[in-house]
Amino acid sequence: MVKKNLCVFISGKGSNLAAIIKNSRTYNFPANIKLIISSNLNAKGLVLAKKNSIPFFILKQRNLRSENKIINEIKKRKIDLICLAGYMKILSKNFLNSFPESIINIHPSLLPKFKGLKTYEKILSQNEKKTGCTVHYVNQKLDSGKIIHRKFFFLDDNENIKSLKDKTQKLEHSVYSEAIIKILRN
Ligand code: GRF
Repeated sequence: MVKKNLCVFISGKGSNLAAIIKNSRTYNFPANIKLIISSNLNAKGLVLAKKNSIPFFILKQRNLRSENKIINEIKKRKIDLICLAGYMKILSKNFLNSFPESIINIHPSLLPKFKGLKTYEKILSQNEKKTGCTVHYVNQKLDSGKIIHRKFFFLDDNENIKSLKDKTQKLEHSVYSEAIIKILRN
């Protein structure tokens, strides 16, 4: 199988990045990570880039010059799909228009419910019975692009932010790769 090329954008821990790297090593996974972009130099996820010899760049400020440099790096490597994994910056219109239908994100709720930040707090305060995670296409409206894949679980009675985050992220680590497979196999 000829594998497709992925670029992953991170800002922090990079546990989703770690899961995609691990899954990409299996024979049937349709892609390999060819590039990592981080919004900051101290993102823990960059340790994974170094350990796995995956080239990475920092996209610090959103000015046209640094953004165009990243756009060129992505194009140069013939990236088929850009995966935002905990990337905490908003991408510009210029960037989004450069890669139509090719940028996806994972969000820790069952979208369209609970868009934006403080997701776990919102879920708990609304006494939700079930929650989960969603992979969706990225457009100019926050967490509002077409939904690709979603999975859920039921909340326990004594759920707190930590337990909710642990369960959601565990689910994310398989759901993101399933979404990538779904897109690239089509
Ligand atoms: C994930 O929970 C994702 O839903 C959200 O940011 C978190 C990133 O975690 N967008 P990690 O950096 O992949 O560990």
